Amino acid sequence: MHIEPSILSADFANLGRDIEMLNGSKAYAIHLDIMDGSFVPNISFGFPVVKAVADTARLSMDAHLMVVHPERWFDTLIGLGVKTISFHLEAAGCRTMQHIRYLKKKGVKVGVAIDPDVPVKKLFKYIGKADFFLIMSVFAGFGGQKFIYESIDRVSELKAEIDRRNADTEIQVDGGVGTGNASVLKEAGAGNIVAGSAVFKAENPLAVIDELSAI
Ligand code: DX5
Ligand code: ZN
Repeated sequence: MHIEPSILSADFANLGRDIEMLNGSKAYAIHLDIMDGSFVPNISFGFPVVKAVADTARLSMDAHLMVVHPERWFDTLIGLGVKTISFHLEAAGCRTMQHIRYLKKKGVKVGVAIDPDVPVKKLFKYIGKADFFLIMSVFAGFGGQKFIYESIDRVSELKAEIDRRNADTEIQVDGGVGTGNASVLKEAGAGNIVAGSAVFKAENPLAVIDELSAI
């Protein structure tokens, strides 16, 4: 299973140290949660922090945009070396396909994200178009929330439709994920999981990353 530690739960006073730790780990990519205080009721960090991560990271970076008008930031993120970008369907609406096309043309791996209250059927028309779907298993906005159990069925429903269409769109799951639920998420069809507090609040983050990536 691909595991993306979310630095939202990292120690920002020692961010360089935490990124170095990830460099030496089996993590697949570094997950960057970008929040604008408008799409979600929280502000996380912006481009100076992304730049600092980029300067230290040897892993690739996956930016999860929890912002209104995500397209305003695509070029800036690409300029900072971000190779994977997801944005929310709720924010992009009818411009979703346009954004997918733009990002793919720029050579970016593109994901479409939905919060737990958006029916997964709304993603069906982007199967085979987006590279991956991000199924939020908590409401976007904060790290450390409790995993919403119904997310497992949502992943299964989406995976069944992806398989029915013989497509290779991946499923990423984000929110409250850790060693206790990663296996069942994989069985449901997830290929990529995001873990913030499960990694950074652990006594031994590298051991947690090892365990998750071995699933
Ligand atoms: C929540 C973010 C998540 C968050 C995950 O809005 O999208 O990526 O950092 O944190 P945990 O793993 O602690 O739920
Ligand atoms: Zn995220």
